[in-house]
Amino acid sequence: MTDDWFFAGKRAIVTGGASGIGRAVVTQLVRMGTKVWSLDVSGQDDGPSPLMVPVALDLMDGAATQAWLDGVAAEEPIDFVVNAAGVSPLRETLERVVGIDFLALHRICSWAAPRLEAGGAIVNVASVAGIYDAHTEIAEVLIEAADLALADDASGAAGSAGFFTTANARIDGPGIAYAYAKRAVILLTMRIAAQQAGRQVRANSTSPHAAATPMHYAIKRNEPEMYERAKMTSTFGGRWSSPDEQADVVLFLLGPRSTYVSGVNLLVDGGWYAAMQTTSPELTQH
Ligand SMILES: NC(=O)c1ccc[n+]([C@@H]2O[C@H](COP(=O)([O-])OP(=O)(O)OC[C@H]3O[C@@H](n4cnc5c(N)ncnc54)[C@H](O)[C@@H]3O)[C@@H](O)[C@H]2O)c1
Repeated sequence: MTDDWFFAGKRAIVTGGASGIGRAVVTQLVRMGTKVWSLDVSGQDDGPSPLMVPVALDLMDGAATQAWLDGVAAEEPIDFVVNAAGVSPLRETLERVVGIDFLALHRICSWAAPRLEAGGAIVNVASVAGIYDAHTEIAEVLIEAADLALADDASGAAGSAGFFTTANARIDGPGIAYAYAKRAVILLTMRIAAQQAGRQVRANSTSPHAAATPMHYAIKRNEPEMYERAKMTSTFGGRWSSPDEQADVVLFLLGPRSTYVSGVNLLVDGGWYAAMQTTSPELTQH
């Protein structure tokens, strides 16, 4: 069975579209006839073409992100948003982790949710790092600070300063910042789902574990101890997922086979969580 008919002629914004999971989502959508704006700070050699519009954008730049969103809105209606851009905490600053993995995603979702066409959907790529209740309190602080940042300065130039001040005051380093940012993504997605249900706009997140993307290989290559600690290969059949195995789930959540699914965080982890909860508690990672 194919769902090409549903995706053909629709329009999507995908962040992180140059690499990994985001790139796999872009390719799958384009193959089914969706026009995609693929946002990334990294170079994209393909396009522009009628269905694939590469957009060079640094999501740390709130003003540029907001200006691009406001421009595209005037151009065409949007049906789907997939936020897949992200940085791991590896050799990153706290500000870049919370800024890219959460604040930029919040800006895009806040802009898109009330504008999406009825029947549209948002999928945010979180992480298994975001599933822990222990991170909820600080994640809620981040959501509130991001709400304020956007309300203070909708154009994105200055409002982020307060958000970063709060993040720096409450979070101790980029490693744990990643977990808080991803927890905030999951909780924000649930809030959007509740707010938009009446408009028939859905919002869900996915939580990958160990997808074989450039981000993942960078951890293996540069941080072998972290790689070992996270037991990255202790998932389904001892192998990592492919970017397409992650993108398949994103497409399911955008598409016509999940029209009654909203506000869910779907683990795409090869059974890691199930094993950690039942047979193999030593897989726990925080
Ligand atoms: N790979 C995994 O094992 C794994 C596990 C859990 C969660 N995730 C999440 O999946 C998402 C996709 O990761 P991936 O593994 O495909 O990584 P990736 O590094 O292959 O892709 C991430 C993309 O985001 C882009 N990006 C980073 N900073 C940006 C910025 N400032 N502005 C615009 N674009 C920016 C990068 O250029 C890159 O193209 C991320 O949110 C990541 O946290 C990945």
